[in-house]
Amino acid sequence: MTQDELAKVPLECDDRLPGRKQMRDDVIAGLRRSQKMIPAKYLYDEQGSILFDQICDLEEYYPTLTEMGILRDNIDEIKDIVGPNCLLIEYGSGSGDKTRILLEHLITPAGYVPIEISKEALLASAKRLTAAYPHVCVLPVCADFMQPIKIPTSIKAAGQRLIFFPGSTIGNMAPEESTAFLMRCATVCGPGGGMLIGVDLKKDTAKLEAAYDDTEGVSAAFAMNVLDRFNRELDANFDSSKFCYHSVYNHEDGRIEMGIKSLADQVVGFGNSEIAFAQDEVMFTEFSHKFSLGQWQEKANRAGFDIVHVWTDPRQLFSVQYMTVQS
Ligand code: AVJ
Repeated sequence: MTQDELAKVPLECDDRLPGRKQMRDDVIAGLRRSQKMIPAKYLYDEQGSILFDQICDLEEYYPTLTEMGILRDNIDEIKDIVGPNCLLIEYGSGSGDKTRILLEHLITPAGYVPIEISKEALLASAKRLTAAYPHVCVLPVCADFMQPIKIPTSIKAAGQRLIFFPGSTIGNMAPEESTAFLMRCATVCGPGGGMLIGVDLKKDTAKLEAAYDDTEGVSAAFAMNVLDRFNRELDANFDSSKFCYHSVYNHEDGRIEMGIKSLADQVVGFGNSEIAFAQDEVMFTEFSHKFSLGQWQEKANRAGFDIVHVWTDPRQLFSVQYMTVQS
């Protein structure tokens, strides 16, 4: 397809985005807590999605390249284990680059449902994938995947459901949240269904910390972008020169903690509300939990999945796991 033809593809997505009011309520509630935090999903506006893709290209950010390598190296085995005619559902599909590996090799997939909170990223990737894989029915849904999502029913005679959840996005969730999320996934998959999930592994602290605080400052720009977003969309008045990026590995909880640190005692306006920040106070933007293979297995089993196969890279940095719903 040419660029012109591509532009004519009438791609629409089923739109269930959290509205501005919802975002404002979520953010203010998070900033009124004694430990300030904002939901990580709000990092992904159009600019945030672009910056996140830049993180994925960084030398230091090992998860993306490692996971792509694992998928490519094992795709023959993966396609056989998954089997034909599956309905592929992806949570937080972003650019869709990893999905290409699956769409190129899965045996006659019944359809592809990308679910993504950034509408721009979703529509751009749905267009690209429709053009590249015209035999696959692509049904984009613009939504927060943490909310219950109705899968479009317009797909005929779909086989078993396969939820693709790469990138260790599961690591963003608190432990109780990720277990509850996996339980909902088991319901969405139904009997015979499965999940192909990327799970980042525990490793050397220096390597972890470098991945989340790169020398080029892209990770910092990604987090700090949320201040511009709040200024623009929530009528806030953050002065980003009075904040800096903060990222450390918390050993006890096994997670990278990312946030934005206030460089002064200051008060920030949010429309007609105000939020006070103390000097050195950190508002968390995102956690990234790391798992041992044993920890992950225990969580998956508790949530109603059996682990069928685990693939890792030779350095055991990252894992891709195929799990099926327990019968
Ligand atoms: C998209 C949540 C998987 O935790 O590695 C990367 C997000 N933030 N660098 C991660 C992220 C800053 C990423 N996830």
